[in-house]
Amino acid sequence: RLLIIDFGSQVTQLIARRLRELNVYCEIHPFQTVTDAFLDDFAPKAVILSGGPASVVHDGSPRPPASVFTRGVPVLGICYGQQVMMQMLGGRVEGGKISGGGGTAEFGRAYVMPTSQTPLLDGWFDTGREQVWMSHGDHVAELAPGFEVYGTSPNAPFAITADPSRNFFAVQFHPEVHHTPKGAKLYENFVRLAGFTGDWTMGAYREEAIRKIRETVGDKKVICGLSGGVDSSVAAVLIHEAIGDQLTCVFVDHGLLRLNEADEVVKMFRDNYNIPLIHADESELFLGELDGQSDPETKRKIIGRLFIDVFQKYANQIEGAEFLAQGTLYPDVIESVSFSGGPSVTIKSHHNVGGLPEKMGLKLVEPLRELFKDEVRALGRELGLPASFIGRHPFPGPGLAIRCPGEITREKLEILRRADAVYIDQIRKHGLYDEIWQAFAAILPVRTVGVMGDGRTYDYACALRAVTSVDGMTADYYPFDHDFIGETVTRIINEVPGINRVFYDVTSKPPGTIEME
Ligand code: XMP
Repeated sequence: RLLIIDFGSQVTQLIARRLRELNVYCEIHPFQTVTDAFLDDFAPKAVILSGGPASVVHDGSPRPPASVFTRGVPVLGICYGQQVMMQMLGGRVEGGKISGGGGTAEFGRAYVMPTSQTPLLDGWFDTGREQVWMSHGDHVAELAPGFEVYGTSPNAPFAITADPSRNFFAVQFHPEVHHTPKGAKLYENFVRLAGFTGDWTMGAYREEAIRKIRETVGDKKVICGLSGGVDSSVAAVLIHEAIGDQLTCVFVDHGLLRLNEADEVVKMFRDNYNIPLIHADESELFLGELDGQSDPETKRKIIGRLFIDVFQKYANQIEGAEFLAQGTLYPDVIESVSFSGGPSVTIKSHHNVGGLPEKMGLKLVEPLRELFKDEVRALGRELGLPASFIGRHPFPGPGLAIRCPGEITREKLEILRRADAVYIDQIRKHGLYDEIWQAFAAILPVRTVGVMGDGRTYDYACALRAVTSVDGMTADYYPFDHDFIGETVTRIINEVPGINRVFYDVTSKPPGTIEME
């Protein structure tokens, strides 16, 4: 197995994902927990040092144990990982200037040219140069003994470096992101050099996940929050497979669901699965506490807290329930990671992670915590969930609350539900549903003047959003044709009282996020 030592990069999990795509088993461990004893026990066949926000030129910046380099296994350093390698093996790193001109900091697309050949770069440079994604402030100023340069870019003379005799490789850019189109090939070459045969599969992941769930839970009972989305459903089916009726699911209706959603989800689970399910209508509680709240983080935290309260209430009714299962995915974890004291920056407090009180009476089971959305879908297929179900667009835990920027009222939610239903109906009728990662309507906190018939209107505006994405971490808006937009806007304004103006959101992520809040 392969060990990834995490120095806090936003994209470390993408490295793991690239490796899973190559059918290689790997684990990510934060640098703080990787000691000599840990390394002896883990016995990695290869090690990857991730990127990270720290600067190796600062005292006390994170390091792996020096023994990483004396175990005789291949090591690949990415960005911060490269700098750490150079510094620890006898090279030199300089701090870069981020602004003001003349600096060597580099963020974004760059092109690397080959300077000589190494097996790490098989399949690279067919067209003379390769696009890569850079994101660094510091840079290597002097190579460690034994290292040579294999690729350079105008701002990174040491873009690709290696000591082939020791199978040490170090690159300045991020091969794991989509903007390094040949990045996957680089990982493939690395794992081949390290002797991996690529025999790990999603079936193996499922078996391993089931084993871990059994080990964690023992003979205790688990309560699982079912949202009707793919994530919690896959989690529930997986856990049910592991521990049978030690699992009880709770479907919480927080009053922030889409039109008819509660009935459909409950019916689907009762009819198709034999999993014990409680339908908890808690909409009064949630909407009551959200009344008058308009700050996005406050709203998210209220919802996160109430979810936990509600689960605890139901858990208390189930004798022996000691665990709370959640379908938390990796993007939810990374974007909230500063809650657990990690080195990344908080973008949003995703409710599944952000609202957890310190002294929660339940322990967590999160079997999907390492996976990206499309991997969860693959696991769902592996578990035999129906294709129509697996294809559902993601729906966030805080539901319509984060599609209703500003204050939430029942009136606005009702309008939003109807607009969203018309929009999704249009998308399905035009056969576009499966081409889109996520599509939804949002109601904006603004009224504008319009004219309908011969009368003046003063109603809400709604925004339509549709994005394509591979993993939810980055996204592009979906380019509907004008006829589709025109027809959809007409239908919404005709069929949904309370809306007299419709916008289409053409912001990508970044700089936008997918949801409004
Ligand atoms: P953003 O808005 O952060 O969304 O670009 C990325 C993906 O995550 C979903 N999302 C959430 N899912 N709990 C969830 O379970 C949350 O609190 C949450 N917030 C956003 C969002 O729908 C998109 O798929």
